[in-house]
Amino acid sequence: MNCYVLTLFPDMITGGLNTSITGRAIEEGLIRLDAVNIRDYTLNKHGKTDDYPYGGGAGMVMQAQPVYDAYRSVRSRIDYDPRVIYLTPQGRVFNQTMARELALEKGIVFLCGHYEGVDERVLDEIVTDHVSIGDFVLTGGELPAMCMIDAISRMIPGVLHNNESAEDDSLSDGLLEFPQYSRPEVWNGRQVPKILLSGDHAKVDAWRREQSLIRTALRRPDLLEHAVISPREREFIRKYLADSGEV
Ligand code: ADE
Repeated sequence: MNCYVLTLFPDMITGGLNTSITGRAIEEGLIRLDAVNIRDYTLNKHGKTDDYPYGGGAGMVMQAQPVYDAYRSVRSRIDYDPRVIYLTPQGRVFNQTMARELALEKGIVFLCGHYEGVDERVLDEIVTDHVSIGDFVLTGGELPAMCMIDAISRMIPGVLHNNESAEDDSLSDGLLEFPQYSRPEVWNGRQVPKILLSGDHAKVDAWRREQSLIRTALRRPDLLEHAVISPREREFIRKYLADSGEV
């Protein structure tokens, strides 16, 4: 998977992603990361990449030319039309399903805006997807691009090693993950749930599934609508909430 990030702050991208699991995946050649500095492509002799908005108003707008030429330099190095994702609070909200789908792409271009935005004409020309990471406004698209690349990378075979499996992840089946415990058995007077020490894998699996259902019902009830749950499990949730006085 090739990730091309068009940005005014390439160090932010490489600094963040050349670390930890994504850093290891880059080293192992499972992901290729190319942070392309938009400023390198401006034809302005002072290195300017932004200008005042037509029609007036606060802030500056990133100009079309440097963004377009940065994109063309990427396009000239590959033999296909990649998806070009513009990070914006006006986009479709990113989720685990999108991460899984995007992990199948050969390469993706991420365009990071700054200031008051990017000249709409270059967006019309190159962007295939508008994506947001949530209903809040950040100062630029770099952190959203990094979030997306991290989440997408984890879905690429080989990026997670055996002991880091994505199978039990929160949201892998539309539910939140069960609680986890490690040594010691008692910490600060708090005991690890006895069932986890029983060595009975079937019972542990059943307990974890119940915990996932309870957790999702309490913390993210909106997820239950699309989660894959049996009628018996739905009944279990209903009864649990009724008994605990939650509904
Ligand atoms: N740029 C600024 N805020 C953003 C957000 N919430 N998601 C994606 N890109 C952004």
